[in-house]
Amino acid sequence: MEHFSIVQALCRTALANPSSAIMHQIQRLKDALEKEGNKKEAKILDGLMTSVSKSIEMAPSNIRRSFILSGEELTPRTPIPVDKESSTPLAEVIFEDNLPSAPPLFSDNVKFAIESILNEWRNFEKLSKIKAEPSRSCLIYGAPGTGKTHLALWIAKQIKIPVVLAKLDGLMSSFLGTSSRNIGNLFSFASRYKCILLLDEFDAIAKLRNDPQEVGEIKRVVNTLLQNLDARSQTGFTIGITNHESLLDPAIWRRFNVQIEIPKPSIDVINKLLQKFSLPIEFNKPQIEFLTWVIEGASGADIESLVKWLKKVYAIETNMDFVNIIRRFAVLNSGRISSEKRGLLNGPDTELFLSLLSDINFNFSQKDISELAGIPQSTLSKQLSKNK
Ligand SMILES: Nc1ncnc2c1ncn2[C@@H]1O[C@H](COP(=O)(O)OP(=O)(O)O)[C@@H](O)[C@H]1O
Ligand SMILES: [Mg+2]
Repeated sequence: MEHFSIVQALCRTALANPSSAIMHQIQRLKDALEKEGNKKEAKILDGLMTSVSKSIEMAPSNIRRSFILSGEELTPRTPIPVDKESSTPLAEVIFEDNLPSAPPLFSDNVKFAIESILNEWRNFEKLSKIKAEPSRSCLIYGAPGTGKTHLALWIAKQIKIPVVLAKLDGLMSSFLGTSSRNIGNLFSFASRYKCILLLDEFDAIAKLRNDPQEVGEIKRVVNTLLQNLDARSQTGFTIGITNHESLLDPAIWRRFNVQIEIPKPSIDVINKLLQKFSLPIEFNKPQIEFLTWVIEGASGADIESLVKWLKKVYAIETNMDFVNIIRRFAVLNSGRISSEKRGLLNGPDTELFLSLLSDINFNFSQKDISELAGIPQSTLSKQLSKNK
């Protein structure tokens, strides 16, 4: 095969950070080469994949965890079921090494609730001795961008089990009957292996319901889902995630042992997220307080994108004062800031400063504001007293 040395180098590079999608594609390439009679090349690719599988199987993490769930071990070579019509994989497998190690930041009550689920899994053996077992299904719901997917992946990291991640809208097919078959295939795959089944964007099914032509098909899909969730409730661990909990069928809702609502971040959590995302830059206290004031009511994902943008501007526009930098952000990101705060940021200086000073949820002093706006405190003080 022409240019095989480059293809081989590409595969080796990709396998330095293996995922099930990469393994799947290299397996396809290997099969295609074999079919065309390129035996030597196919064998080389096979060798590359085998060494990856071995190194993953030997990783100590795989040995420690597995008593918890029954089933075969997943490896990067495990074939993933595909949609028969489009050949797209029905799920993605995420192994322990690629799961996030940093916990998402939540307020204490949510944190404690999650900790209690984790403790059940950590004490699996203790529980089995008294014929009890951990919660096997969990529904995580809340506004978009609040860290739900991150949370589910982090839970998996904590109990050291790979994730089979399926986006439900990806299972829905335009071909009649195929969606139900996809769901069936996904669940039998998940039940065969030791894994956490993560059903992301669970509301995709409910959205279909608005289409009057699809009524019969949806009924079938919901029924298949219910049957599969029931069957799995005795064995695996399933996490469902939805942004639109009100769209979920109550029958589906009831299938989950535990339901956790993830709220928008509180002022305290916003403060911590801003500090976390801005590293290695360390904004000072008034800057963090001002950012928190600006972005109050936004999701964690919005906060992350504010900080990403801010880091760039902060590094480039060294002459601009902090208040004006944030004013520019407010113009460019109108959807991320409440209309009240936007109005104040777009209005005259004095009005903005006076409302900061009088906001009882924050503790701004005139000194803070003079620093943020880059004007001497005496000037600010005169300016404010004129307008009082
Ligand atoms: N509470 C949080 N703590 C840490 N990171 C967060 C939080 N909320 C959102 N994020 C970050 O925002 C991005 C989107 O989060 P994600 O988990 O995909 O949200 P969701 O699934 O709720 O829509 C991710 O990069 C995530 O790390
Ligand atoms: Mg998500």
